[in-house]
Amino acid sequence: MHWSSGLVVAGLCLWATYCSLSVDAANWAEKFGDSINLTLYLRDKNVTFNINDSVSILSHPGFKRASPTVLYMHGYTESNQSRSVGRVASAFLKRGDHNFILVDWNHYVTFPYVKAFFNLFQVSHALAKSITRMVESGLKRESLWVVAHSLGGQLAGVTAKDLDFKLPRITALDPALPGFTFDGIPNLGPKDAEFVDVIHTDSGFFGFDQRIGHIDFFPNNGTRVQPGCPSYVVGIYDGHCSHHRSWDFFAESLLNETAFPAVPCDNWTKFTKGECKSTDTAYMGIRAGEARHKRGKYYLETAETAPFGKGLLGVTNLTSSSSSVFSVFTGLLSSNQKPLPTSWGWDQ
Ligand SMILES: *[C@@H]1O[C@H](CO)[C@@H](O)[C@H](O)[C@H]1NC(C)=O
Ligand SMILES: *[C@@H]1O[C@H](CO)[C@@H](O)[C@H](O)[C@H]1NC(C)=O
Ligand SMILES: *[C@@H]1O[C@H](CO)[C@@H](O)[C@H](O)[C@H]1NC(C)=O
Ligand SMILES: *[C@@H]1O[C@H](CO)[C@@H](O)[C@H](O)[C@H]1NC(C)=O
Ligand SMILES: *[C@@H]1O[C@H](CO)[C@@H](O)[C@H](O)[C@H]1NC(C)=O
Ligand SMILES: *[C@@H]1O[C@H](CO)[C@@H](O)[C@H](O)[C@H]1NC(C)=O
Ligand SMILES: *[C@@H]1O[C@H](CO)[C@@H](O)[C@H](O)[C@H]1NC(C)=O
Ligand SMILES: *[C@@H]1O[C@H](CO)[C@@H](O)[C@H](O)[C@H]1NC(C)=O
Repeated sequence: MHWSSGLVVAGLCLWATYCSLSVDAANWAEKFGDSINLTLYLRDKNVTFNINDSVSILSHPGFKRASPTVLYMHGYTESNQSRSVGRVASAFLKRGDHNFILVDWNHYVTFPYVKAFFNLFQVSHALAKSITRMVESGLKRESLWVVAHSLGGQLAGVTAKDLDFKLPRITALDPALPGFTFDGIPNLGPKDAEFVDVIHTDSGFFGFDQRIGHIDFFPNNGTRVQPGCPSYVVGIYDGHCSHHRSWDFFAESLLNETAFPAVPCDNWTKFTKGECKSTDTAYMGIRAGEARHKRGKYYLETAETAPFGKGLLGVTNLTSSSSSVFSVFTGLLSSNQKPLPTSWGWDQ
């Protein structure tokens, strides 16, 4: 059993105790759905709708019927105040070519994790119904794009399984690991949308530890400690910095679509040795949508601080060593520089 699943079992025991002491479980379960809000982000205001009233969004004057609609699902303990929401929302608003709707399920994802974990499987039903009603009321299925972080990434997958139509695209930003490695627990997978692209940044810790989409991006190996992140106890605690890099990178890609080209590769070792100099690049982030036929694992390096995208240098002028990034000496070992190729063919 994976360590994170063990954590969930331990948490479940704690929660059962807490629950029997303080909550009338039956009564509480009936209320599922009531406290999920959908917030439409506009330049001059944010408009909040209860999930049971999602159809009203479509007739709001700020809703652009001709534009694609992003549904953003936040993660554990997050809310409309979270940095991830603010960063991604403002990047979409700056572009101005999408409707941005936050799925605010904060009420169900507060501490403890185990409660949030089990709530997810109820919230998904309510959400699927709500999305279905929007589509029945004229929202074009083809215009939907679910972007989701961490536990939200898993919510996206579980909700998608509940829809009787296929979502065109799910972009998962370091989808959650703890609890989702159990047999029989549904988790995000390539069947959940016509195209599932995943950005892994804390794989094996807070982030899912395997390929989970059609195309999976592994910036800086997809693991902690991401470059520029603190490593307080040799990689065990990094203040969620590595996990959060997933939306940092994604938000940046919204404003600089070609900042993160990546190359297909079997693993980081091969990548850092310069053995994956493919011309078959794909862009991580929004432009991954143009690589719908591409499959597999894609690798790249990023900078330590924003702007993170290094363009083609991120797949050619490698600074990482293939030795463990958990090593305190990582910085001292990085001498694996490769000269730039004189010509670098690639597709758009
Ligand atoms: C929708 O949810 C809100 C908030 O929980 C509630 O006040 C309202 O009565 C609900 N409306 C319908 C039609 O169920
Ligand atoms: C919308 O909400 C976000 C928080 O999620 C806030 O930062 C932003 O200022 C709000 N926008 C407006 C126009 O009020
Ligand atoms: C943000 O959430 C709080 C409660 O969690 C709510 O009172 C507030 O109206 C929300 N803001 C928006 C813009 O939805
Ligand atoms: C949902 O919206 C209602 C009305 O704006 C607000 O009272 C409530 O706190 C919101 N819930 C969450 C979880 O933000
Ligand atoms: C990386 O991939 C190569 C080729 O597939 C394989 O030979 C090698 O063992 C792999 N290395 C690691 C560390 O997994
Ligand atoms: C986008 O990213 C590339 C690669 O880092 C950089 O060269 C370019 O200047 C950036 N463009 C903008 C508009 O920031
Ligand atoms: C390659 O990276 C090194 C730092 O690792 C930097 O000094 C050098 O300028 C980079 N080369 C190019 C062409 O940017
Ligand atoms: C790269 O990721 C793989 C798979 O998660 C992991 O086994 C390996 O230790 C990582 N390599 C480094 C240098 O961190």
